Amino acid sequence: MPGRMASSLDASNLSEVFARRLAASGDQSLRQALVATVMHLHALVRELKPTHAEWRSMIEFLTEVGHACDERRQEWVLLSDLLGASALVEEVNARRPKPATPNTVRGPFFRADAPERPLGSDISLDGVGEQLAVSGRVQDLDGDAIAGAEIITWQANSAGYYENQQPDLQPEFNLRGIFRTDDKGRFHYLTVRPAGYGVPDDGPVGRLLRKAGLPLRRPAHLHFMIRAAGFETIVTHLYDGSDPHLEQDAIFGVKPELVCQFERAAEKPCWRLDFTFVMARSKQGVQS
Ligand code: BEZ
Ligand code: FE
Repeated sequence: MPGRMASSLDASNLSEVFARRLAASGDQSLRQALVATVMHLHALVRELKPTHAEWRSMIEFLTEVGHACDERRQEWVLLSDLLGASALVEEVNARRPKPATPNTVRGPFFRADAPERPLGSDISLDGVGEQLAVSGRVQDLDGDAIAGAEIITWQANSAGYYENQQPDLQPEFNLRGIFRTDDKGRFHYLTVRPAGYGVPDDGPVGRLLRKAGLPLRRPAHLHFMIRAAGFETIVTHLYDGSDPHLEQDAIFGVKPELVCQFERAAEKPCWRLDFTFVMARSKQGVQS
């Protein structure tokens, strides 16, 4: 008995055949995301026409990215950040009214277990670097103070390294802390001026992008996560306006509203920074 005729598949119709194969009963949003992803993947293959060896080395790269991940390192997040995908996700979700403080990428060095500290504390546990006094206010869109807001901060040291990158060289929780705003929505603490740094380039992502000639520097910055009940959480950075790499940030995270001038003082603390964070109310039922 003759077998059934197979319909012919080629570069021109394979994408369409893939889309048709997905059963209508499957999860609809998953189907939509998968079809879009596969269409772009197929278009990429048609455009680049990789050899078998090139395709194999791409698979090997992705395999290495997975193997480079552990509890201390998230190479997939680094890939998303350095390709600009994380910044783009922030942008497509940026629906905050002005003058609310915009979000930027959280980055891989956040720790959820940093200690809460009283206002005025010094978060530089080793005292290395030029002292910086940070102060500010948290307010809503009408300019009213938000008392009891949680300010979670983390930053690199004066050599450009986070405490969790140098567990043997820096005290645990160095340059990290959680503060709460007072009745007037104000907060203040001491730290040291952070240095800019190169993103980790000792793994597959950094090696590949360095080879391609992509700048891997981040301008000096302080990280903040600001939380208050009833408001959208702010996850952002404040950048040192004097840093020469502001225009070439490796993760596309610099926004004009977040660039600050650190003020030089005649005596200790040598530098001062004051910033007002503006929070937008969270929409009902929307998890921020
Ligand atoms: C950071 O700012 O901590 C960071 C963000 C993305 C990639 C590497 C570092
Ligand atoms: Fe950082």
